[in-house]
Amino acid sequence: MKRSLSIIVAIDQENGIGKGGVLPWNIPGDMKHFKNITTLVSEEGKMNAVIMGRKTWDSIPEVFRPLKNRINVVLTRNKSLQFEEGVIVSSGLKDALKAIEEQYSEKLDKIFVIGGQQVFNAAINDASCNNLFVTHINKIFDCDVFFPEFQGNFALKSKSETINEAGNTYCFCEYQRIFKQS
Ligand SMILES: NC(=O)c1ccc[n+]([C@@H]2O[C@H](COP(=O)([O-])OP(=O)(O)OC[C@H]3O[C@@H](n4cnc5c(N)ncnc54)[C@H](OP(=O)(O)O)[C@@H]3O)[C@@H](O)[C@H]2O)c1
Repeated sequence: MKRSLSIIVAIDQENGIGKGGVLPWNIPGDMKHFKNITTLVSEEGKMNAVIMGRKTWDSIPEVFRPLKNRINVVLTRNKSLQFEEGVIVSSGLKDALKAIEEQYSEKLDKIFVIGGQQVFNAAINDASCNNLFVTHINKIFDCDVFFPEFQGNFALKSKSETINEAGNTYCFCEYQRIFKQS
């Protein structure tokens, strides 16, 4: 059976996700949540994969990449770019999924798409993308990249309490794809 994909994203009240190649906010509690969700595995010895666009890879400080204890996958169409050993480089989402399964089939647990806008747009339309982990930040930031509208195709599954951190309030939600009868 085909493995399902999850998206993890933090969005503002207008679905904004970034500005000038970086995050528009600094919310340590959300970074910790991101690390927990993407690192947690169902069985010892397994590992999750994180798929990201080249610009999101660039936005991660060098000391933090590749993201620890996760299979890092970068999408780029530029064949001349060099990445650290162990990073899977793919020319598209489908190729990335194939490469992950081929190289890590036994060890692989879950697959997360972690951004940015271009890769979220591709992933959300993939039929295997069933879960969204969305941090909703209760503010509007100045953004130049956005998460696509998803509420019509995904239903709320769980919602955390509202968290208050250094002037920002936010909550962690999980959504599941609604399977529509055709
Ligand atoms: N709020 C959040 O949760 C969150 C999460 C992640 C990122 N972000 C933000 O999002 C922004 C980056 O998003 P972005 O849309 O500009 O860039 P992106 O999606 O991270 O990366 C875009 C690049 O990825 C490659 N790419 C994208 N789709 C591809 C495909 N289908 N096949 C092959 N390669 C593909 C291309 O690389 P080449 O140009 O090398 O060919 C493209 O230029 C930043 O501001 C970042 O901080 C926010």
